[in-house]
Amino acid sequence: MCGIVGYLGPKNPKDVILTGLKSLEYRGYDSAGVSILHEGKFKRVRAEGKLGNLSAKLDGEAFSGHLGIGHTRWATHGKPSERNAHPHCVGGISLVHNGIIENYMELREELVRDGAVLESETDSELVAHLIEREVRAGGDRAAAGNGAAAGVSSALLAAVLRILPRLHGAYAILVVSEREPDTMVAFKNGPPLILGVGPDAMYVGSDVMALVPYTKKVVYLDDGEVVEVKGRSYRVLDHSGATIQKKLVEVNWTADVASKGGFPHFMVKEIFEQPRAVAQAIQPHVNLQKSSVELSGVGFDVDQVLAGIERVFIVACGSSYYTGLVGEYMIERLAKVPVECDIASEFRYRHPVLPKNSLFISISQSGETADTLAAVRMAKQAGAKILSICNVKNSSIDREADGHLYMNAGTEIGVASTKAFSATLALLNLLSLAVAKAKGVLSAEDEAKYVREVLAAPAQIETVLNLDKFFKQAADKLKSYKGFLYLGRGVHYPIAMEGALKLKELAYMHAEGYAAGEMKHGPLALIDDKMAVVTLVPHDDLYEKTLSNLEEAKARGGQIISIGTGESERLEKISQYYLALPEVGWFTLPLLEVVPVQLLAYHVACSLGHDVDQPRNLAKSVTVE
Ligand code: G6P
Repeated sequence: MCGIVGYLGPKNPKDVILTGLKSLEYRGYDSAGVSILHEGKFKRVRAEGKLGNLSAKLDGEAFSGHLGIGHTRWATHGKPSERNAHPHCVGGISLVHNGIIENYMELREELVRDGAVLESETDSELVAHLIEREVRAGGDRAAAGNGAAAGVSSALLAAVLRILPRLHGAYAILVVSEREPDTMVAFKNGPPLILGVGPDAMYVGSDVMALVPYTKKVVYLDDGEVVEVKGRSYRVLDHSGATIQKKLVEVNWTADVASKGGFPHFMVKEIFEQPRAVAQAIQPHVNLQKSSVELSGVGFDVDQVLAGIERVFIVACGSSYYTGLVGEYMIERLAKVPVECDIASEFRYRHPVLPKNSLFISISQSGETADTLAAVRMAKQAGAKILSICNVKNSSIDREADGHLYMNAGTEIGVASTKAFSATLALLNLLSLAVAKAKGVLSAEDEAKYVREVLAAPAQIETVLNLDKFFKQAADKLKSYKGFLYLGRGVHYPIAMEGALKLKELAYMHAEGYAAGEMKHGPLALIDDKMAVVTLVPHDDLYEKTLSNLEEAKARGGQIISIGTGESERLEKISQYYLALPEVGWFTLPLLEVVPVQLLAYHVACSLGHDVDQPRNLAKSVTVE
């Protein structure tokens, strides 16, 4: 999604803004631009494509001013082009925007009627026009002796407060004016926006990542808030102009996360970080002496809450949703509590019924996904207890939740989620045990057995990572297939869906995840000798049934890639490729199975020459609907 950086201070704004935008690259974007004061006027430079194109254009450009804003754009209204790139500049106003202005048609018609000349197809430019028009009108009002609201001395701030009721939709906006070179005004409803307070400079960013190279002191803005930065000071206001007291938070992020550590891509580095990510996720919540689960630092009385719940809802998007489906299996099987797992964009509009004593679990790596955030707010209003599983402390979802389980996976840069996925699975392992324990349906013996399985997972993932070489060699053959069907049953079915999603995201090839037993009801028609059938076939009680499904695919020419556990002569015989994972039980096997499907997608995408860290059209955290 789009990235925002703003700077007001003594350094060269160009360098600060480019560094900030660079650290936001991982979010996904298709064009970029800056607007920086130079001799009293904004000089704007924009470029389509990667940040390197913008940097090249900025080479040799000098700026005398100390105020500037920058943006990486992920197109919503208007195609990715230089013309549609931000900032949008109108009559001395420069503005950058993340989100979608839903009433943009109405605003566009009104502004055009009013004589505005529009340069782009974006909804964002309209906001720049609205503000510029208000600044002009405010000047006229002042000349007529009819000034701005009491306590509002900045013409820019006064204009923003006046146009706010006109904006419907989701936005995080930063605006600056040539007439007020010591001022930045930022406001939000939906997408994140953070103020950075440095010792001698002020920053605005859409992500802490853009600020941490310069300051660790930040203010997280909430929806409906406006921040006015003037020189080295700031104040946060509501829409009526009344001051709001905000907490200055010290973040412990470091700026050096964006290193590939010798790997060719962030994604493969993050795949290889999974053993550590899983270990870090579970470490705070396991009593090693007793081999028991003790969820800690959640923020509410876990035992009491879990003992009282009668229904669990799990809501998430993308890969996080598939972890939720695994969680659904685990909680129902171990704790015997009914669980519904939903895609957030469906949940929020399907008029769900949340009975009393519901636990609502949101899963979001970024903690910023707009649909998941909206679902959390809905569930909260309906009276459910919210437990957030999240990787980013103080993110929007984290701040809304009653309880917190942190993935502790470290910053994930690759757009396609990998280590956050595994860290979440491990937390869901522990959470399902905690619910079962609180409900009194888990013996101490079983608890210890399952906890030991979870503790063994990091080392087992380490062995599975050796399959890397296999997929590297097989990638050329695999990329020649016309499509992929991923099959699995039970807890393995969501991993099949995750495998298909990964291949779509990275290799841009058609792939579908299906319940193995359902293949005969349709997908079988797709199978011929150009179709790869990737199947998860562990040695469990459904082994024979899944094997029969594979025979059906094989009989129709399907190219079988099977991922099983231990030796299996029969599987090897019918498979083009057979991969043996360690023989572990159902509870932690998804943690191992996800590794080969990640590696398959990664290597096929690399051999096709795709940008695996920033796949086309995709964004890391999706802050619009
Ligand atoms: C985007 C990312 C996915 C991610 C999904 C949900 O689509 O590309 O990798 O799984 O958002 O993100 P979240 O931050 O809510 O887990």
